[in-house]
Amino acid sequence: MIKAFKYVVIAFVGLLLVAQLIRPNITNPPVDPAERLETSVDVPADIAAILKRSCNDCHTNETAYPWYSQITPVNWWLKNHIDHGREHLNFSTWARYTPNQKEKRLEEVCEVLESGEMPLPSYLWGHRDAVLSADDAKKLCEWALASKPLSR
Ligand code: HEC
Repeated sequence: MIKAFKYVVIAFVGLLLVAQLIRPNITNPPVDPAERLETSVDVPADIAAILKRSCNDCHTNETAYPWYSQITPVNWWLKNHIDHGREHLNFSTWARYTPNQKEKRLEEVCEVLESGEMPLPSYLWGHRDAVLSADDAKKLCEWALASKPLSR
């Protein structure tokens, strides 16, 4: 019984080692400064700090990858979140949105904060500093709504 367990552990570790060879391509696409959110929307320093701490890893092309992002299978899971996050909202390619899309996204920023959907809960396991205080969430939401007419 103990012997069988040993083989299972060895097989599992072997599998994990081989799996390290199968890595997704997790890189940051190049950023054109002219397309960034900050270029067309006023982002005060305190708001920029909140975005950087809690949102930008999944909603910009300037993701800071933690060391464990290199490990299979964690990397596939992270890539999935980052790809989907960027797909829905990407501050690095802000200029590509139409005025209506910009307004909708700013509105959604407020919605996901009020519902507590964002930052993605699993992100907070490894990023304790990304947890938003009620005060920060309120500030970010107010900024997003106040920026709506200016985003055109
Ligand atoms: C760990 C990655 C991650 C982080 C961090 C993160 N998001 Fe997201 N976000 C996602 C993903 C993935 C989606 C796509 C929606 C889904 O599949 O649930 C998304 C979707 C959204 C959307 C679109 C919602 C919709 O209804 O389409 C908004 C707005 C948003 N996030 C805002 C934020 C804000 C604001 C923060 C910071 C407070 C943040 N996100 C932090 C991953 C993230």
